Amino acid sequence: MKFKTIIEPFRIKMVEPIHLSTEEQRRGYLKQAHYNPFLLNSNQVLIDFLTDSGTSAMSSDQWSAMMNGDESYAGASSWLRFEKEVQSLTGMPFVLPTHQGRAAERILYGKLGGKGKTFISNTHFDTTRANIEFSGAEAIDIPVKEGLDFASDFPFKGNMDIALLEKTIAEKGAANIGAVILTVTNNSGGGQPVSMENAKSVANVCRKNKVLFVIDCCRVAENSYYIHHNEAGYENKSYRQIAEEMMCLGDAAVMSAKKDALVNMGGFLAVKDADLAESCKQLLIITEGFATYGGLAGRDMEAIAVGLQEVFDPGYLNYRIVSTRYLGENIKAKGVNIIYPVGGHAVYVDAKSLYPHIPPHEYPGQALVCELYRIGGLRSVEIGSVMFGKYDSDGKLIPAPMELVRLAVPRRVYTQSHIDYVIEIFDEIVRTKDKVKGLKIVKEPQFLRHFTAHFEPL
Ligand code: F0G
Repeated sequence: MKFKTIIEPFRIKMVEPIHLSTEEQRRGYLKQAHYNPFLLNSNQVLIDFLTDSGTSAMSSDQWSAMMNGDESYAGASSWLRFEKEVQSLTGMPFVLPTHQGRAAERILYGKLGGKGKTFISNTHFDTTRANIEFSGAEAIDIPVKEGLDFASDFPFKGNMDIALLEKTIAEKGAANIGAVILTVTNNSGGGQPVSMENAKSVANVCRKNKVLFVIDCCRVAENSYYIHHNEAGYENKSYRQIAEEMMCLGDAAVMSAKKDALVNMGGFLAVKDADLAESCKQLLIITEGFATYGGLAGRDMEAIAVGLQEVFDPGYLNYRIVSTRYLGENIKAKGVNIIYPVGGHAVYVDAKSLYPHIPPHEYPGQALVCELYRIGGLRSVEIGSVMFGKYDSDGKLIPAPMELVRLAVPRRVYTQSHIDYVIEIFDEIVRTKDKVKGLKIVKEPQFLRHFTAHFEPL
């Protein structure tokens, strides 16, 4: 018999209490946090969907591997194990360990970037864009047009627009391209997957133009799930084989291990070219740590090596994708627009259509983030004009193309009843939607303003 109920493929060995709160208390906490959930304390949050990054529950195998952490400064056995695992996944010989993804980005894009350079991506993640722009270079997003259409059920909405890629390289001049970055899955584009066919086309265009092809592989296992199920020719390949096939296409890879390596901290940069590896290694040693640990403890590298195996387990990946889809489908069933089909690690709610009366400069996404917290203690993040809005020379907001709220699901942390509770919050969101007001920004930094900005309700 084939059961239709998909169970969490783990038992709970250790528990962490959730601090319950009343709506009245949460109103106060929100005010204290200047209406920015990044400034809330975690014990003021009931369900934390701020991010899937570094929030995974580790397995007993990972915890026991940590006890074998070799904390030698140089050439630790934990490093050798980590290096071998990353080489086997990426097919890239040179591995540089970093404390998290953005450290790998800073080293690589700092090296390749600078004034006059252009980077092209399906969609740059916020830290990717910030590291590129901080170097003086520009970052251009070229997702396929289906990726911007919420309703399209095209299965690979994370793809890059190949015609636009060729056009952009020709316009800018191949020598001025810092790198082409394919992010799998496409986080800022709704957690949507990238097909193998698209990755191959990107690789071909890069090879033809002698442009460096970087894969941001922090969710490559989740991406492989979609290729296995939705792309012809891959139904008999394992998730791991699919990931390896994709990674081999790149010249370099950056990974935040805090996602699909199922750990709380870590990352790496992997490259094929010895000279590029050598110059990056110099920067690594100056800023992160010696070449055989980067910003990591030996025990961290042990946990990553185990996590990179576990994440490809078919039972785990099926539970992961199906449970995120369950959350999205049930929110959609309440008449709330989401990016559809549901992505791997998160549900992206369209705040623009939920609150049509709130214009972009009053931040409908941030308003929804605050409502979700006030009503149910759910922490989420705005991915819209707070995160990606820019100002023109007159100080007028140039809005982001979409006003989204991301509900990112930590890996192996919440059970079905937690998810059902979140779905129930949306009943009240829908009932009260016409009364909700926008916010204004009263304080903001120059880069990555969403992390620390202060807001006030209008
Ligand atoms: N690339 C992508 C696609 C990411 O999603 C992230 C992080 C990074 C790079 C940077 O990695 O945080 O380890 O420095 N994303 C998290 C998120 C923060 O919430 O989506 P990091």
